[in-house]
Amino acid sequence: MKKLLIICSVVFTIYACGNPGEDKTSGQSGARTEVTENGNPSYDPKRGEGKFQNMELPDALDAAMAQSGKQIYEVKCASCHKLSDERLVGPGWKGVTSKHKPEWLMNFITNPDAMIDQDPELQAQLEICLVRMPNQNLTDDDARHLVEFMRQNDGIK
Ligand code: HEC
Repeated sequence: MKKLLIICSVVFTIYACGNPGEDKTSGQSGARTEVTENGNPSYDPKRGEGKFQNMELPDALDAAMAQSGKQIYEVKCASCHKLSDERLVGPGWKGVTSKHKPEWLMNFITNPDAMIDQDPELQAQLEICLVRMPNQNLTDDDARHLVEFMRQNDGIK
């Protein structure tokens, strides 16, 4: 019975996430405004929250880093993120490196909880996905390799 419940909630989550355009009730968007207003006013949504700032990445891809990032992706991220723009549990990764600065990505990968609590866009995604992205205790190197893999997925060579 417990198992069935878990399956049901997973199916529901995937279903809910498959409809990002679905109209939300006004009650829920009211809650979102409240979260943003009560959030930390010093929070920088371009940088996120964490130790990384003003990162300049080289134009060219580091293929070895990207390969290592791909391996981490397959074990720790692929269950929730597709490489296309299609949502699974979390948003698809296509275009994620143009959507977010590298420091935002690095901060989010290494410090998701603090950012989900404060970032207006992550709050909005949380409403659609109903799942919080877990902190998987990745090292800074892991995060950097993942960002390189995301860049490769976005066509950087
Ligand atoms: C259990 C599911 C799950 C796993 C596993 C997961 N994520 Fe997520 N991820 C999410 C959800 C859900 C969101 C949307 C924000 C939220 O609600 O927390 C998200 C958002 C993101 C975003 C922001 C995407 C955007 O379009 O703004 C990035 C980047 C990201 N995750 C990276 C990762 C990386 C890197 C890993 C692997 C180390 C990973 N995620 C593993 C569920 C997951």
